[in-house]
Amino acid sequence: MPTTTSQPSQAPKSRSNPIRLIAIVLLACIVLLGLVVLITWLIVKPKRLVYTIEDGSIQNFNLTNDHLSADFDFVIRSYNPNKRVSIYYDSIQATVNYNDQTVAFSGVDPFYQRHRNVTRFDVKFTAHSTALPSSVSNDLQLEKRSGKIQFDVWLKARIRFKVGAWKSRHRTLRVSCAPVLEFSRPKNLKRTYCYAEI
Ligand SMILES: *[C@@H]1O[C@H](CO)[C@@H](O)[C@H](O)[C@H]1NC(C)=O
Ligand SMILES: *[C@@H]1O[C@H](CO)[C@@H](O)[C@H](O)[C@H]1NC(C)=O
Repeated sequence: MPTTTSQPSQAPKSRSNPIRLIAIVLLACIVLLGLVVLITWLIVKPKRLVYTIEDGSIQNFNLTNDHLSADFDFVIRSYNPNKRVSIYYDSIQATVNYNDQTVAFSGVDPFYQRHRNVTRFDVKFTAHSTALPSSVSNDLQLEKRSGKIQFDVWLKARIRFKVGAWKSRHRTLRVSCAPVLEFSRPKNLKRTYCYAEI
């Protein structure tokens, strides 16, 4: 009985203490979580993704009055060398360029890439009478006569990293490749290494 009578006077103090305690614990948890994320990130820091073009062809090449029409077909290999980091590819835009002029666009379906996974995808591009500056068109014509042309294939992807259950915010991955396409050998490209940068 004496204990119950003494409680009302202590109540305000004992009620505010748990709230303060919960707040402190919550704050500590948030700080700790931030530290864990930071340390995890530093430990698993993603390795550079490895991109290569395995095969490629150019067909129906037609350069008339500074307008280019052509069909391109590339087999791109994407390797995620990371042991713990998986990747969401949420969108991928692809372009074929010549002397910094974009001649054709394409896209790649979104995909999820596990750690240490190799994914190959086929990207087809069609240039529909793409207008080119005449200097670029002249260079292209000259290079065509030599039997092979070096194009630039650029990929721009919005990606997210996944480590365990944690997912990063969106980042932009840029990949650039410079395959040399031969007209005499429609599908027998030498493996071309690309430069990938986040
Ligand atoms: C090439 O393109 C021009 C202009 O678009 C067209 O007139 C011509 O027929 C085409 N040539 C071939 C071989 O398709
Ligand atoms: C990579 O992942 C894709 C999609 O999940 C799968 O189809 C493919 O077999 C995997 N490749 C390797 C080498 O594990």
